[in-house]
Amino acid sequence: MTKAIIFDLDGVIVDTAKFHFLAWKSLADELGYFFDEKVNERLKGVSRMRSLEIILEVNGATEKFTDDEKAEMAARKNDLYVSFVKTLKPGDMLPGVEEFLSRAKAAGLKTAVASVSKNAPLVLKCLGAADKFDYVADAARVTRSKPAPDIFLDCARALGVDPADCIGVEDAQAGIEAIKAAGMYAVGINVDVTSVEPDLQLRSTAELDFDKIVK
Ligand code: BG6
Ligand code: MG
Repeated sequence: MTKAIIFDLDGVIVDTAKFHFLAWKSLADELGYFFDEKVNERLKGVSRMRSLEIILEVNGATEKFTDDEKAEMAARKNDLYVSFVKTLKPGDMLPGVEEFLSRAKAAGLKTAVASVSKNAPLVLKCLGAADKFDYVADAARVTRSKPAPDIFLDCARALGVDPADCIGVEDAQAGIEAIKAAGMYAVGINVDVTSVEPDLQLRSTAELDFDKIVK
């Protein structure tokens, strides 16, 4: 029986996935490196530094930069990303999310956010949504990033719910793998599936129908 719903943030609660893309694209353009939507799919759900490494790998530039230079590039990307995030305001959740959340609350389900983004608290604050969830995982405390199940298990533990009674909602392949590895039911939002399939794939958050998904 479903007792909790655990949401990814970027690309599920809010359309910040496009902000991540634009900020990485700007850095890649500055460096004269290739970066497109397909490469961007691989960055979804993975940490900031790992994302940079993937872009460098794709461009055969893994060995080109020192750790300090990589940290500086990641910080530059983040500054631009944060400037985009600051344009978010209450009401900017993706279609269907707010209603789905209210229905979950009304039905007595617990809710949590499982995002590996260090900017998650800022994003939720800009959306005026910080207190809409029972728990927000602290990305800084989760050592193994998605596709490891850790962040979803951390949420289940904090909510006091058995993972088997949780639904996880994700837009990234790494996230679906994490949800399934945690032993939860996985709802995919337009996931570009390359390995593990979600239990239910939706085209967008507008299809988050509480009565159909929660049993
Ligand atoms: C995830 C995004 O939610 O957070 C990734 O899907 C991003 O694309 C990751 O790299 C880390 O985010 P941040 O805000 O800590 O750089
Ligand atoms: Mg996401």
